[in-house]
Amino acid sequence: SQQRTLVLLKPDTVARKLVGEVIARIERKANWTISALELRTLDRTVLEQHYAEHVGRDFYEPLMGFMSSGPVVAMVVEGERVVEGIRALAGPTDPISAAPGSIRGDFGTITRENLIHASDSEESAEREIKIFFPGLV
Ligand code: CMP
Repeated sequence: SQQRTLVLLKPDTVARKLVGEVIARIERKANWTISALELRTLDRTVLEQHYAEHVGRDFYEPLMGFMSSGPVVAMVVEGERVVEGIRALAGPTDPISAAPGSIRGDFGTITRENLIHASDSEESAEREIKIFFPGLV
């Protein structure tokens, strides 16, 4: 089915100049389209909304610091089963268990700096798209 998802290329991806590499992997999927894209440094307010489910976790504060340490590329990607598809391209959160060929498997270093965020469900995608692209219908 046709879906849309929120993708963030995290500050490590921008700092390491891997933006083109990651976007190329997304664009290689012929059934998907990037329908919004912005380079932006995230403030605490946006991050608190985005990571609300992780409040209180031991990794929360370091994650907030990392995610506001430099610009991210925020995107909306649309297409056939794109929610599940981008997560498959990304690989699991822990880069050690991410297979070669996945973004995290090929470029990942530590769990926090794992290059990419992709919404985990269609419901999360709609919630997250409203946070990052409130003008989008
Ligand atoms: P993501 O799954 O996109 O969203 C939550 C983020 O928190 C995750 O990527 C990592 O960046 C970070 N994270 C999750 N678990 C850990 C952990 N155990 N240690 C450090 N960072 C984590």
